[in-house]
Amino acid sequence: VAPLRVGIAGLGTVGADVVRLIETQQRLLSERSGRGVRVVAVTARSKAKKRGVDLRGIEWAKSPQALAEDPDVDCFVELMGGAGDPALSAIEAALKSGKSVVTANKALIAKHGLRLAAAAEKHGGALNFEAAVGAAIPVIKTLREGLAGTSVNRVYGILNGTCNYILTRMEQEGISFEECLKDAQRLGYAEADPSFDVDGYDTAQKLAILASLAFGTKVAESAVYVEGISSITPEDLKAAAELGYRVKLLGVAVRTAKGIEQRVHPTMVPKSSSIAQVMGVTNAVTIDGEGMPPITLVGPGAGGGATASAVVADIADVARGIRARPFGRPVERLGDTTKAPMERH
Ligand code: NDP
Ligand code: HSE
Repeated sequence: VAPLRVGIAGLGTVGADVVRLIETQQRLLSERSGRGVRVVAVTARSKAKKRGVDLRGIEWAKSPQALAEDPDVDCFVELMGGAGDPALSAIEAALKSGKSVVTANKALIAKHGLRLAAAAEKHGGALNFEAAVGAAIPVIKTLREGLAGTSVNRVYGILNGTCNYILTRMEQEGISFEECLKDAQRLGYAEADPSFDVDGYDTAQKLAILASLAFGTKVAESAVYVEGISSITPEDLKAAAELGYRVKLLGVAVRTAKGIEQRVHPTMVPKSSSIAQVMGVTNAVTIDGEGMPPITLVGPGAGGGATASAVVADIADVARGIRARPFGRPVERLGDTTKAPMERH
């Protein structure tokens, strides 16, 4: 079988690690997918920038659009970020030409995921976005495939690595919010515009995606109540600790009799609770399904290596010929997201 030919747009924190991982895991990928996986073309804003990966023998496409339309590419991997162009047009072009697409872009999936999923279903390609939520944690697959026969009532957790990293270091070391955020940026955890992280929008986008998969409803980022962590100080965390609590930025989506409630806000959790033990860049997602105790998935929620792991797993699925419905069922079968009033849980 001919190798899967991969084109990657975006060679930053995640993209460079994806190139590296495909190169180092050639053998494993070929054993697991039954065929080789080769990066044949890449692009980014600057061709001259040093990226610490060997790009010799890989074509440089003149734009993301050109890469998406390249007939020698089977799988278009979008790792540029941003809810609009060039990511959106390039993904649309790739899907329209029957290619499969892999992306880590939650902002784009939260905003345009349904439209893109419909295009993937129409033209026969895959649209895989495991890395968009929880980085290395396979939470999309868990909800979509693992729990396909289970009715989910609630999904919640820590969905932003940057915020959990900041809250952890502020509490443990007493250092300022600004200093912690700078470190999160240096380590490659934060979004290009870190206000998406600290103001809660990144968590809201991820929560909206999870809620759609959990409840079979349309992704509705605008239905999420959002409050971030930017006004929290080390003194607030110290006061919470004295009362036996930790502060975590939680995303919570619950099915209620009045519709789907989705909210993101800092929450005081008892220090003895398992969610309080989730520290640093780690994420944790708990899924409450009908007829069984909750399932919790915990793992690295940001960073190049962790995210590349999920991106490469999605590429391996394409190589294997798996074409999962992006939201677990045909897009036209997704229900409307009736926004429930906020209640205490
Ligand atoms: P970076 O900012 O590190 O990298 C972005 C890359 O995209 C850069 O290589 C940049 O080029 C390229 N790029 C940006 N705009 C354009 C453009 N207009 N045309 C061509 N290339 C462009 O981002 P990350 O790698 O951190 O994130 C990438 C995606 O992955 C985002 O959607 C993000 O939300 C998502 N993600 C990130 C995680 C993380 O931990 N970092 C975790 C999970 C998801 P150049 O290098 O030349 O400037
Ligand atoms: N900026 C995001 C975070 C990257 O910190 O969680 C992972 O999606």
